[in-house]
Amino acid sequence: MRFTVYTLFPQLIEAWRGEALIGRAARHGLIELEARDLRRFAGNRTGRVDDAPYGGGAGMVIRVDVAAAAIAEARAGDPTPDEVVLLSPAGAPLTQRTVEALVRQRHLVLLCGRYEGFDARTEALVDREVSLGDFVLMGGELAALCLVEAVARLLPGVLGDADSHAQDSFTTGLLDHPEYTRPPEFEGSPVPEVLRSGHHAEVARWRRREALRRTLERRPDLLQGAPLDDDDRAWLASLRAGPQDGA
Ligand SMILES: C[S@@+](CC[C@H](N)C(=O)[O-])C[C@H]1O[C@@H](n2cnc3c(N)ncnc32)[C@H](O)[C@@H]1O
Repeated sequence: MRFTVYTLFPQLIEAWRGEALIGRAARHGLIELEARDLRRFAGNRTGRVDDAPYGGGAGMVIRVDVAAAAIAEARAGDPTPDEVVLLSPAGAPLTQRTVEALVRQRHLVLLCGRYEGFDARTEALVDREVSLGDFVLMGGELAALCLVEAVARLLPGVLGDADSHAQDSFTTGLLDHPEYTRPPEFEGSPVPEVLRSGHHAEVARWRRREALRRTLERRPDLLQGAPLDDDDRAWLASLRAGPQDGA
């Protein structure tokens, strides 16, 4: 899968491309991650891409002609991008469902803003606007890299174990169950006995129930859309009822 990132700071993207699992995926040809400098489209010798906002106010705005020229280059690329994505706090919050949709594409183009962001007319030139959440970053690069990581890890061969994302938080509609490793006891806190029992069915049942417990406690909103069976619903009802007298 190919990712082309348009940015004023290509080195930020290139640094990421060399390291860890993204670096390994790039070396193995599972992904291509290319950074392109937005300043190439400045149309002046200084490389200046921004201008003052109409109506006044603080900060500078990236010009629409700069964005349009970059997007035109991207759309003429080979392979043709499936989507041009603008990273913006005003975009739709990135979710695992969106990530699962994006992983079906062959080529994504990601457009990173800086300063006060892009001229609003840029929005009409892209296919999708994505936000990382309800906070404001200094630039779109980290948001773009988060999107690249979230999508790339779903590609076959990128993670060592093909099943390792199957139980991830949000993939199942719930938060993930808690995980433990050695030592079996740490400062009086033991690993739950069932996880050391070797009883696979009991382990699976415990994990499902703990995933439900965590989700109920921390993200009850997720339960509305999660696929639940009768056992799940009965377990959630018992958790909601709390400890019973004499239990
Ligand atoms: C300082 S921000 C611009 C913020 C803009 N004035 C606003 O309040 O919506 C500069 C750039 O950072 C990126 N950015 C900042 N926060 C983001 C977020 N939550 N999600 C995605 N991109 C973000 C966008 O590319 C944006 O154009």
